[in-house]
Amino acid sequence: MTLDGKSVVVTGAATGIGRGIAECVLKAGARVTIVGRREEPLRDLAERYGSAVAVVAQDVAAPGAAERIVAVATDAFGRLDAVVNNAGLARFGRLDAIDPALFEAMFAVNVRAPAELIRCALPQLRSHCGSVVNISSVGGALSMPGRAFYGATKAALNSLTRSLARELAPDVRVNAIMPGPVDTPMWNETGLDEADTQHMRVDLLASTPMGRFGDGTEIGRWVCSLLDPELSGWVTGALIPVDGGRTA
Ligand SMILES: NC(=O)c1ccc[n+]([C@@H]2O[C@H](COP(=O)([O-])OP(=O)(O)OC[C@H]3O[C@@H](n4cnc5c(N)ncnc54)[C@H](OP(=O)(O)O)[C@@H]3O)[C@@H](O)[C@H]2O)c1
Repeated sequence: MTLDGKSVVVTGAATGIGRGIAECVLKAGARVTIVGRREEPLRDLAERYGSAVAVVAQDVAAPGAAERIVAVATDAFGRLDAVVNNAGLARFGRLDAIDPALFEAMFAVNVRAPAELIRCALPQLRSHCGSVVNISSVGGALSMPGRAFYGATKAALNSLTRSLARELAPDVRVNAIMPGPVDTPMWNETGLDEADTQHMRVDLLASTPMGRFGDGTEIGRWVCSLLDPELSGWVTGALIPVDGGRTA
């Protein structure tokens, strides 16, 4: 597998799954534009990989974000071949307890921002037989009591993936990965208290046949496979569970 010469944007690349994806894509030979709101945790990756990395400190849901990200990638590397929409917002809570405004906030980051980044990157993606990978969730396919808003945004991202795969074929391939539980900082920021978080983690492990949390690089290797036209040139509109068997 090689991504030599390709220019790839990875959003939410400072920590967790996005970090694993960025490292795998860099190791496969691509040049990578990494995006996150805080610059400092992105800098470490930039220092390790030097001129193969461009940094954009940017909230993906802010007005003008997508234009800026595409401009940085094309200025730095002269082209843009692929977009990995990984940045996500996860806020959990039952319907009668969660702040309804969080639905809009999650929709903005998990659905609208990926769509806008694809739209702005489209001329570049079209001219390079490009590819998009959206990081969705098993929550977009399973019922999610206590996490209904989050699950609904990931179901919307799955729908966007399948519709755009048809709309943009054969020029641009669009796929999604649906991770199962991966041990990342996200689990400390869901809005649940420590006891409920611990309870949910125990439940998730019990319903994951492989009996462990996943790792960001296990998602990253699948992203590389989907970006590689030699391996996946005939794959578009796929929603791939990489989930320790959680959806089996
Ligand atoms: N962890 C899991 O079990 C799991 C399972 C299924 C799917 N997912 C999905 O995987 C993706 C990554 O999640 P993760 O678990 O790796 O979470 P994470 O460790 O919290 O990482 C999220 C990253 O995205 C960045 N980010 C968040 N909001 C952003 C925004 N508005 N604009 C730009 N960057 C933003 C964060 O950096 P800054 O704070 O500096 O912006 C952070 O580096 C998400 O889409 C999530 O829904 C996760």
